[in-house]
Amino acid sequence: MSIKSLLDQRVLAAMAAANIPGECPANITISSRTGFGDFQANGSMAAAKRLKTNPRELAQQIVENLDLRGIADKVEIAGPGFINIHLAPAFLSEQLQCLSADKKLGANTPTPQTVVVDYSSPNLAKEMHVGHLRSTIIGDAVARTLEYLGHSVIRQNHMGDWGTQFGMLIAELEEQLGEGEQVELALGDLEVFYQQSKKHFDEDRGFADKARDYVVKLQSGDAHCRKLWQQFIDISVAHSEAIYRDLNVTLKHTDIRPESAYNDDLATILSDLQQQQLAVEDQGAQVVFLQELADKKGNPSPVIVQKSGGGYLYATTDLASLRYRSSTLKADRILYFIDARQSLHMKQVFTLATKAGYVTGNISLEHLPFGTMMGKDGKPFKTRSGGTVKLTDLLEEAVERACALVKEKNSAISADEMAEIGQKVGIGAVKYADLSKTRTNDYIFDWETMLSFEGNTAPYLQYAYTRIRSIFRKAGTKYSDVSQRINISEDQEKILALKLLQFGEVLQQVADDAYPHILCSYLYELASAYMVFYEHCPILKENIPSEIRDSRLAICQLTSRILAQGLDLLGIEVMEQM
Ligand code: ARG
Repeated sequence: MSIKSLLDQRVLAAMAAANIPGECPANITISSRTGFGDFQANGSMAAAKRLKTNPRELAQQIVENLDLRGIADKVEIAGPGFINIHLAPAFLSEQLQCLSADKKLGANTPTPQTVVVDYSSPNLAKEMHVGHLRSTIIGDAVARTLEYLGHSVIRQNHMGDWGTQFGMLIAELEEQLGEGEQVELALGDLEVFYQQSKKHFDEDRGFADKARDYVVKLQSGDAHCRKLWQQFIDISVAHSEAIYRDLNVTLKHTDIRPESAYNDDLATILSDLQQQQLAVEDQGAQVVFLQELADKKGNPSPVIVQKSGGGYLYATTDLASLRYRSSTLKADRILYFIDARQSLHMKQVFTLATKAGYVTGNISLEHLPFGTMMGKDGKPFKTRSGGTVKLTDLLEEAVERACALVKEKNSAISADEMAEIGQKVGIGAVKYADLSKTRTNDYIFDWETMLSFEGNTAPYLQYAYTRIRSIFRKAGTKYSDVSQRINISEDQEKILALKLLQFGEVLQQVADDAYPHILCSYLYELASAYMVFYEHCPILKENIPSEIRDSRLAICQLTSRILAQGLDLLGIEVMEQM
């Protein structure tokens, strides 16, 4: 149990003993100012208002009934009725020792769930671009965190591999292959290939007709079109997977369940919606009008499930996938990491799926939107000439910049080490810059700040980790040799200890709200508290008694474990030196 929950329990018991109604919360918070204890119980003010009595007197009654023996060594009342709790160093030492003996570092969910996480999900017609970066990075961090807490996580990469563009693309591929081109070469640059086929489509009528014909053939299972399509898909998927590897993202090949996987379900979904009289004909198309999402004037929100030509849409596929995730995968919770601009689409799909009975009542459907990645000019991130930035180019640049930076700091590093460090620092910086911002806001992509060794950045945290490891090298003590007897005495140790003990709680919050920036802020505060501890509490100095040295080494070790574990949950790697 976290210290906060423990205090909550004890204060509530004291409040009950003071005849305060059970609905009144204890309001335990971490003290924000030094000298005001480690925690505060602020519930007396609201309770006094309710009972129409004096809050300070009520606080006094609570304190008289409060049993914190073995937990706190001082409890005092301040201001209008705050109760300041000073934890006992012996209690903190004991808690820290338990934490250090816990393989999971205090993180464990009491209620494991099956959680489906839909993320990355690029469209295969084109190269993956920066727009998919946020979904991939944020979704992966949340999936890792849920898994670490003990949930059963099912990753779903809902790749867009089906739709009208594919007729054009396979018609183009057929022509290029006919001219003796190799598949890998023709599709070496998907962006260029897409532009070529688009141009062809716009300028050549015969080609455009063929492209349209190929869509129909593809969707009705024509073997020739299927084969071309498969060749195209295989290469496009390989492009995405190369990026996942570079990005250190946990998505595996088997996590891909693309749009085409639901092809056979679409007709069933449509006829079911018709039978339930949800889908009706409107100008030749099949449409569901959702009164639940009506606009201000009362006009219902239309969801087209089949176009007049017979083609199905993005929404139809999402209904089928939602039904699959609910009834086959048996999800308790489904998370969608998709751009904020698809909010209406998600609302429509969730509303309609619920209405049609494709999901059961207590499943939680959550669209977790994110803002746009902006350039330094405050406009959506583009290349200098205004084109979309390819992810491979961006990641390559990150690694190059990181290598240059590390070389500047430490010229004695070998070429091999440099390659490894550059990769970890460069990729870490890009990921962390994204993850550390509140997900729902737009954010500015800026090389200088993300690669800085100061402030809330990946290099700062990776560097903090290497500093701790270097102490062990200096101490000549192997990790496993550190005695785990911890004895907190200094204020800086106490502050660090309290931070370390919050790890599990922080992860729980990330899992509940899918906001990885909470974990980033925590790790940054942890590293900063460590730096202060390190400055004030000597470890390897001559005159330091061995029990104190060992206790401090154990604190260092625990800090490094939590830093490394926290960064790993963000998909960021650490190294021994940099
Ligand atoms: N392929 C879509 C896009 O690039 C994202 C798909 C997200 N997942 C979903 N189930 N709709 O915009």
